[in-house]
Amino acid sequence: MGVPPCRLRADAIVSVRTVRFGAVREVHLVTLTTGGSARGATSGNPDNPWGDSKTAAAPSGGSLGPTGRPRPMFPEPRPRLTHGPARVVAMVNQKGGVGKTTTTINLGAALVECGLKVLLVDFDPQGALSVGLGINPLQLDLTVYNLLMERGITAEEVLLKTNVDGLDLLPSNIDLSAAEVQLVTEVAREQVLGRVIKPLLPDYDVCLIDCQPSLGLLTINALACAHGVMVPLECEFFALRGVALLMDTIIKVQERINEDLEIEGLLATMYDARTLHGREVLARVVEAFGDKVFHTVINRTVRFPDATVAGEPITSFDPSSLGANAYRELAREVLFRWDAEEHAQPE
Ligand SMILES: Nc1ncnc2c1ncn2[C@@H]1O[C@H](COP(=O)(O)OP(=O)(O)OP(=O)(O)O)[C@@H](O)[C@H]1O
Ligand SMILES: [Mg+2]
Repeated sequence: MGVPPCRLRADAIVSVRTVRFGAVREVHLVTLTTGGSARGATSGNPDNPWGDSKTAAAPSGGSLGPTGRPRPMFPEPRPRLTHGPARVVAMVNQKGGVGKTTTTINLGAALVECGLKVLLVDFDPQGALSVGLGINPLQLDLTVYNLLMERGITAEEVLLKTNVDGLDLLPSNIDLSAAEVQLVTEVAREQVLGRVIKPLLPDYDVCLIDCQPSLGLLTINALACAHGVMVPLECEFFALRGVALLMDTIIKVQERINEDLEIEGLLATMYDARTLHGREVLARVVEAFGDKVFHTVINRTVRFPDATVAGEPITSFDPSSLGANAYRELAREVLFRWDAEEHAQPE
C-alpha cells in the first residue's frame, strides 16, 4: 500500500547512513529530501530500512488507518502470570513539547491495564513526569539525582508508588540538572543510570524512561541502558527537523555503547485529522520511516493537559475518552510487536 500523494515539502534531511537494528542486520537510511521523492518510501520496499516492522503480520481490520496503511487489529494481550525482567524503553526526542512525558505516563498506565508491572523513570530535571503523576518534585528528599550521584542510596529508597496500582516511579526534580555536569568526571559515565536501576528490573515487565529534550549525557545514559527507543513526533511542519541528529546519536550509541539498542518506533502525537497540514505531515513521516511508524496515532485533545493538571493518567482521569483509548491501542500495538519479535528469535 503506497503512501497517499503528499504536497508538503519536508524540511528534514535524513542522511544516508548505515544503521544497525539490534545485532541483526545492516541497512541504509534513505535520504529524505524536499519534494516527496524519498527512496524506498513505501512499506514492503526492500530498500526501506524502516519497513521491517512485525506489525505487518497483524490481521488487517479492513479500513485504512490515519497513517495511510491498512489498520491492523491488534489482539488482546496475553495474560501475565509472572513478571520481569523489564524491557527498558527510552522516550527520546530532543525537540521539546512533542509528547514524551504524556506518552510515558499514559502508555505506562495502559500497559498496567494489560496486566504488566511498569516502572517509570523521570529523567528530566523539569520533573514533569512526577508532576503528571500527582507528585510535587520539590518536596522530595530523594530523587533519581541522589540515586545517580550518592553511593549507598538504593533504588528501593527512591521508588514511589503512584495512584495506579502496578505503576511505580523513580521521581526527579531540578537537582538532576547538576548530574549532567557532575557525571562528566565519573568512571563509565554513560552507564550510571543502567547500573542504578538494574536491581529493580527483575520486578517489572517494562521500564519507560522519560528523557529531557536534549541529546546530552543524561539522554545518552538512557539510551545506553535501553533495549529500545521510542520517538514521539508532533504532527506539525517541523516534526522531522532534528530527527537526523537523533538517528545519528542512536547509531553512535549502537556502535560504541549498546549494540542491542533498537528503534521501537515513531509515534505521531497531537494529530488533527481535520487539517490537511496534519495529514500531510503524517504522510511524510510514514514516507520517511515506513513501518517503523506506529499505526496508532495520538490525536490532539485538551483532555491531556487536563489530565496533567489533575496529576493522573488519562486512562483513569477520563477512562472512556478517545485519548485513553488511543494509548490503550498503542499498548496493544507495542505488546504485539514485542511478542512477534520474541517469536522471531532463533531457537
Ligand atoms: N495529544 C495531545 N493533545 C493535546 N495536548 C497534548 C497532547 N500530548 C501532549 N499534550 C500537551 O502538550 C504539552 C507537551 O507535552 P509533553 O510534556 O508530554 O511533551 P514533552 O515532549 O515531554 O515535553 P518536554 O520536551 O518539555 O519534556 C503538555 O502540555 C501536554 O499536556
Ligand atoms: Mg517531558
